[in-house]
Amino acid sequence: MSSTDSTVQVTDDQMRRYAKMIYEVAGIEISPAKKQLLSNRIRRRLKESGIADFEQYYNFLKKLPISHVEWDGFLQEVTTHETYLFRDDSNWKWLRETFLPELQKTDKNSLRVWSAACSTGDEAYSIATCVADGLRNPSSWRVQILGTDIGIGAVQDANDAKFNERSMRLVPDDLKRRYFTQLGGAAIWEPKAKLRAMTKFRQHNLLDRLAESPFDLVFLKNVLIYFNADSKKCVMQNVEQVMKPGSYLVAGAAEGIGDLMGGFERIHPWLYLRK
Ligand SMILES: C[S@@+](CC[C@H](N)C(=O)[O-])C[C@H]1O[C@@H](n2cnc3c(N)ncnc32)[C@H](O)[C@@H]1O
Repeated sequence: MSSTDSTVQVTDDQMRRYAKMIYEVAGIEISPAKKQLLSNRIRRRLKESGIADFEQYYNFLKKLPISHVEWDGFLQEVTTHETYLFRDDSNWKWLRETFLPELQKTDKNSLRVWSAACSTGDEAYSIATCVADGLRNPSSWRVQILGTDIGIGAVQDANDAKFNERSMRLVPDDLKRRYFTQLGGAAIWEPKAKLRAMTKFRQHNLLDRLAESPFDLVFLKNVLIYFNADSKKCVMQNVEQVMKPGSYLVAGAAEGIGDLMGGFERIHPWLYLRK
């Protein structure tokens, strides 16, 4: 039977090799229990690439540089991209009611934020909305919000910045009206120029150091849940290295990084202050 037949799964040995390869490239751990799911996801790539079976596709990927478009297609299949604007109310309440007011009591006039593993940019535009709305005199500030993701397709979508009603459902009405434009009466929304001016996106793998000057605030959410202890540790070292002393990390509450936060003070289960 052929690998393109939906009842055929990767063998246990193939499962081990695919899982090892995914882990080495992206840090993501795929459990053996996900055999059917992984087989289905690879099958989609077989169709796209015209490659006959799981074994040939494995050998094909193994020889390709990670920058190759097929690697991106494969990673898009095996990673979760679920995201939406204003996800996790407590984060935005803190940003608007505590972080931004406190920031404006200092003599700073610049703000650098990193939305790490940003998927299609929803988190970065949520940050931009809060910042645009929360700074008393926005034009006197230099604001830079960088969104990064391993997925080239995700980064392209973030740059395109078109959000449907589902992605926009938690954006407060007044902010939606003031900072987004509805496209031609369609159920698609686009951030206004002032949000776009603050945001930029690029591809980056969290297992690699980010070559950027340090940030005042980092969002790292709903990604390390798929990593194991070693890859989490590697990511946290990379993240800590680009955070200013006194900066904040907004993490997913289930990220499982509690043991790796020696350099931070825990403010909430999802909020850390870099010492
Ligand atoms: C579930 S989304 C999270 C999006 C957003 N942070 C949120 O919480 O709504 C997870 C994202 O992590 C990205 N990702 C997975 N492994 C990564 C890695 N090693 N480096 C960078 N991004 C990665 C995926 O491509 C995906 O877009």
